[in-house]
Amino acid sequence: METPCYVYDLQLLRRTLDAAAKASAAVQNAHIHYAMKANSNPVILREIALAGFGVDCVSGGEIKLALECGFKAEGVEFAGVGKTDKEILFALHAGIGCFNVEGTEELEVISQLAAQEGLVARIALRINPNVGAHTHANITTGLAENKFGINLENMEQAVQKALSLPNIDFLGLHFHIGSQILDMTDFQALCNRINELQDWFQHRGISLRSINVGGGLGIDYIHPETHPIPDFKAYFDTFAHHLRLLPGQEFHCEPGRSLVGQCGSLMSRCTFVKKGSVKNFVILDAGMNDLVRPAMYQAYHKIDNVSAPDGEQTLYDVVGPICESSDCFAKGIYLPKVSRGDIIAIRSAGAYGEAMASTYNTRALPSVRFE
Ligand code: LLP
Repeated sequence: METPCYVYDLQLLRRTLDAAAKASAAVQNAHIHYAMKANSNPVILREIALAGFGVDCVSGGEIKLALECGFKAEGVEFAGVGKTDKEILFALHAGIGCFNVEGTEELEVISQLAAQEGLVARIALRINPNVGAHTHANITTGLAENKFGINLENMEQAVQKALSLPNIDFLGLHFHIGSQILDMTDFQALCNRINELQDWFQHRGISLRSINVGGGLGIDYIHPETHPIPDFKAYFDTFAHHLRLLPGQEFHCEPGRSLVGQCGSLMSRCTFVKKGSVKNFVILDAGMNDLVRPAMYQAYHKIDNVSAPDGEQTLYDVVGPICESSDCFAKGIYLPKVSRGDIIAIRSAGAYGEAMASTYNTRALPSVRFE
């Protein structure tokens, strides 16, 4: 096997998609839009499009690729805090389902561009719900001090603007509180906030056709082999029980990691085993350019010695070849004794792995294989 290489288990992906689709039936009018920033490999995208999911895009490039891979324009949502005029025009002409709008200035620009082209933009307002998620600080997005969304105190003004501007069709509200969330009470807190907001809108006679709760469901990085499929039932049941949707209202969500995280492993080869004065280092041919999560978020990924799974348990730091001390996949872990040439698997790498890979140090991008 050529390494480093992302290996994807398409069977597991299909089973995961099926589990998500089935569990989503607990919520009325549920629509799942895959957050393709998690993994935009075209083979993966085609599988997800084929399963009938919509897609959540954050750039013109993502919208273009999603359409090429079989997603329907009506199922495309376009999110992002800094959409350029060029991207907005592209999305308008493609006839996407919804722009998730992050501020009033953006609203005015979309209205202007839509009017100029003789088109109508369907929009949802992204509201910052000021609900915290118990996850890594870098991936918490729903608190008031974040750059994302419209703060609650500015919501009324934004809604009035959305209702009054020409060529804007106001569909509803969009939220996202963070990523890798495993505690369902965080989503429950979001439901409670949305219920309060729904009352506010009802009192003013403003109808909301859709509620989008964003993404964020986490996966089990510690035991991927025993929990290969995330708990979609707990996730959707939380919304079914705690979110008060009005008759006819649509429910939208944007899972990324939970759909693709467990189906991918980064396979690498041990280049050298280096004995330091206090530590043993396993040096891999994969580096932080191939999988940046451990370096960037101190994220844990389970590591397996695939070549010699029964060897004596030995303490190692597992590192990459890049000239940065943060190029480290794990510190002080036990692995079956590693020798030069062993294949080392880094698990749960299907989300934000290949998608965030770079050519730093003028290295080639990792290769890709499907099983
Ligand atoms: N919707 C919005 C508006 C988002 O910002 C995100 C992710 C998602 C949906 C999908 O979230 P998910 O279901 O994947 O949690 N690179 C980081 C994660 C960044 C997440 C950014 N936003 C990581 O590797 O953990």
